[in-house]
Amino acid sequence: MMHVILRNFFLFLSKNQILNRGARKWGLKLGASQVVAGETISKAMNAVRGLNEKGLVCTVDHLGEFVKTEEEAAVSTEYCIRTLNAIAKTGVNCNLSLKLTQLGLDVEPQLCYENMKAILSTAKKHDIFVRIDMEDYSHCQQTIDILEKLRREYDGLVGTAIQAYLYRAIDDVKKLKGVNLRLVKGAYRELPEVAFQKKDEIDDNYLKIIKQHLRSGSYTAVATHDHQIIEKVKDFCREEKIAKTQFEFQMLYGFRTDLQEQIAKEGYTMRIYVPYGKDWYGYFMRRLAERPQNVSFALRGFFSK
Ligand code: FDA
Repeated sequence: MMHVILRNFFLFLSKNQILNRGARKWGLKLGASQVVAGETISKAMNAVRGLNEKGLVCTVDHLGEFVKTEEEAAVSTEYCIRTLNAIAKTGVNCNLSLKLTQLGLDVEPQLCYENMKAILSTAKKHDIFVRIDMEDYSHCQQTIDILEKLRREYDGLVGTAIQAYLYRAIDDVKKLKGVNLRLVKGAYRELPEVAFQKKDEIDDNYLKIIKQHLRSGSYTAVATHDHQIIEKVKDFCREEKIAKTQFEFQMLYGFRTDLQEQIAKEGYTMRIYVPYGKDWYGYFMRRLAERPQNVSFALRGFFSK
């Protein structure tokens, strides 16, 4: 019960634009520096280099929230392109993650599509994969529609994420056979009309979509900190003789770092999602919502600054 109250509280805070604007000015506060690599591209590249040295590969994300104008979308697009160029220049083992609302999805879907094309043409030049994060339910179908359009020109270079808490997830995974998908439990607050609410139902559906995508021969990124799910996926792949090259595990920067390294040492691809930028507030609140124990990050950060 307390968990649900805290989850809803932090998800509510994550949408507060005034606090978001304030947080941009504070710098990385409240312990956010433990889960955000820094405010600049060079800080992000340093973090990625350090992770690569430990046998971990990465995906880097320039944080951005509440993009409401064409100009703001252009700035975000430019950041994505600069990030791709920095990855290529530094030679780190890393790809790019982004959100379509950052690129203007709420301003005009066609503008967002054009911005994605500009990013993917740079990604193609450097041969760097681009992952579209999945946002809340109201953007789900638009995200899949844009992905399908982009695949006509950039198949293999672009993928998205599917959220197991959505009833539609299994159908989406079937339709997206052959696409490199990141499979997650889901981070937003969704209504019972569209999403499972109970943890055991979400976990069951999560394993179901993972198995479905793996069995179809498609590349699968299993993004979770849940060691029980991870063990079940390893067992399943051993039993079904699915090669380690057909899937990877993913975790967020700063979470379960021992487990991250252990999985890499076992010979699995372990990719770390490395967020950076001034817009850390919404990302950080969503992480607190997922796991209220993470509040200890915030308290430590609060008292140590
Ligand atoms: P969950 O939070 O359900 O935890 C399950 C169990 O794992 C816990 O009970 C505990 O035993 C253990 N555990 C979890 N965290 C732990 C910790 N820090 N320390 C110790 N034990 C821990 N969401 C989305 O909607 N769209 C997206 O695009 C993405 N992208 C994304 C990328 C990556 C790389 C990750 C890892 C996650 C996302 N997510 C996401 C977020 C995702 O949907 C989900 O909200 C979080 O990963 C939390 O769920 P988990 O599966 O990690 O386990």
